Amino acid sequence: MSSGLSFRLVDVVVVARTDGQVASCVEALREVHLADAYPVRWPADPVDWLTPADALNSWVAMAGDRVVGHAALRRTDPPTPVAERMGPTLGSPAMVSRLFTVPAARQSGVARRLLDEVAGWAADHGYELFLGVADNALGARRCYERTGWRHVFTEHADWLDADGRPALVHYYLPG
Ligand SMILES: CC(C)(COP(=O)(O)OP(=O)(O)OC[C@H]1O[C@@H](n2cnc3c(N)ncnc32)[C@H](O)[C@@H]1OP(=O)(O)O)[C@@H](O)C(=O)NCCC(=O)NCCS
Repeated sequence: MSSGLSFRLVDVVVVARTDGQVASCVEALREVHLADAYPVRWPADPVDWLTPADALNSWVAMAGDRVVGHAALRRTDPPTPVAERMGPTLGSPAMVSRLFTVPAARQSGVARRLLDEVAGWAADHGYELFLGVADNALGARRCYERTGWRHVFTEHADWLDADGRPALVHYYLPG
């Protein structure tokens, strides 16, 4: 986000994403990509990247009419060792994904608010959460740990990191 944003968490609302907010999400994602190389490579179709085919729902954190944060939930299965850690459950696995906060709004509780919203929706709709985070995303890993997630498994993914090597991904479950 460009400088000049006067940011107060109390002014932020987290709502289910609408089609009309997607362009603003792409702008926010570009800021995050430039600051953090997330995603590692700018997608050919960022709208598509923000809306994976297996998406169950997506949320935005809005400060006025500006998107300052984003999260999505995807219906996908975790690696077997993660599923085993989830144990017998009545819910379907769902992965927290596409989580980001624009640099100007960081460490003010935006991601925590988004994660709370995702968790509430998942509980209401019968989904059990997990997530994966790249090894080099140190801020995200600290964020997940501070918001109560616990690391359960690590493996190399089938996508490449910035160095062109299979990315090392750490999997977390809610604490
Ligand atoms: C990870 C990210 C989403 C965190 O967003 P955020 O809005 O700044 O997070 P919050 O302010 O809600 O922080 C929640 C907790 O995590 C902590 N935290 C967040 N970022 C942190 C960091 N870089 N280092 C240490 N702690 C951090 C906060 O201090 C807070 O803990 P507290 O409430 O106990 O003080 C943001 O840094 C980001 O967009 N990173 C780039 C994209 C990315 O890596 N996404 C994750 C993909 S898996």
